[in-house]
Parts: sequence; C-alpha cells; structure tokens
Amino acid sequence: MKFFLDTAITDEIKQYADTGLVDGVTTNPSLIVKSGRKIEEVIAEICDIIPGPVSAEVVATEYSEMISEGRGLAKIADNVVVKVPLTEDGLKACYTFSQEGIKVNVTLCFSPLQALLAAKSGATFISPFVGRVDDIGLDGMQLIGDIKEIYDNYGFATQILAASIRHPFHMLEAAKMGADVATFPAKVLDQMYKHPLTDKGLAAFLKDWEKSGQKIG
Ligand code: G3P
Repeated sequence: MKFFLDTAITDEIKQYADTGLVDGVTTNPSLIVKSGRKIEEVIAEICDIIPGPVSAEVVATEYSEMISEGRGLAKIADNVVVKVPLTEDGLKACYTFSQEGIKVNVTLCFSPLQALLAAKSGATFISPFVGRVDDIGLDGMQLIGDIKEIYDNYGFATQILAASIRHPFHMLEAAKMGADVATFPAKVLDQMYKHPLTDKGLAAFLKDWEKSGQKIG
C-alpha cells in the first residue's frame, strides 16, 4: 500500500520525507491556497522533495482550458500527476492526457460507476472521497470495496487512491479493502504509530534496564 501525504505545506513534507513512508503527495486547490504560495512554485518544490507521484489539480472546468492548464502543470516536473475532477469534461481531458502519456488522478469520485468511467478514460489513479461520503451518513469504505471489485473483475490498471481519509480507522479499513494508495494528512500518520501498550511496555523495559546499570556499546 502506498502512502501519499495530502498537503501543500513543504516544511511538513520535508519533515516526513526522511521516514521513508511517504511515496507521494496529493494537493488540491484548497490545500494550495492554504499554503499561501503560487501553485507552480509549490508543486516544483514538492516534486524536488518527493520523487514519487505529486498530484496538482486543474481549476478549469471546460475541456480545452483543462488541457491547457494540465499540460502546463505536467511541465513542472516529471513526477507531476495532473488531477482533474470527475465530470464529463474532466474525463475527456483524462483520456487526452493519458493518450499523451501524462498521468492523471481523477478526483471527487463518489460512486463506483464514476470510478468505472475514470478507469475506461485511462486514469492512473481514482480518488474516492471516503470521509465526505461518511459525512452524509453513507458508508465511504463500501465505495472502496465496490470499486475494487469492479476493477478486479476487468483487470483495470487504475490505482484506487483512498482520499478524504480522516483517522487511523479509515486507514485500517482502506488497507483491509486493498486500496492501492491512501492519501491523508500528516496527523493520521502520527496517530498510526501510537499504541498505549507500546508506551507502557517501553517504559517498563527502560525502568528494568536502568536498575541493571548496564550500557550498550
Ligand atoms: O484528498 C482529498 C482531501 O483533501 C479531502 O479531504 O477531509 O477535506 O474531505 P477532506
């Protein structure tokens, strides 16, 4: 399972890059605005820090403008993945980009049939928004399961990128469902390390060790 950080804050990405756990980064217009920086500048810096896929999203909603924005974003670095919304124009743009060898992340996916269309349009990644489905009282993780079943039925190469992940339980379920990738804020990664029995066990080991007076090395 690949881990992507869902952020455009480069200091945060640098901080986690050394863990070896970060395989890529996803951004969206809201995250770019939150960074307070120009999109081209921040995406270029992220691509320097993380060699894996870095998603940069178009903001145009009309096909030809999406193509122009997406081609511009793709030129920033070889590891840019152009992100398009799951609309008719977005999927048409996805098809064009995929024919040109530009990788595409189709975002704002909320149904298995939308995901089927994205795969047929040549998407590299499909981003089902798990947390936002939960927000309206439905089962976000079921969406991952349904997409997985459909993609497996036909052998689609499109990778399922579980997005809008809010907490470690989402991560657990996404991993059990077989999502190829999960993208999440850094705080979810922090939470995944933690277990009270690890802290308790370590404290006991160190206390016993201290009594022995031994030193290693
Ligand atoms: O990856 C998509 C993400 O940025 C949306 O997350 O928590 O705003 O639904 P959220």
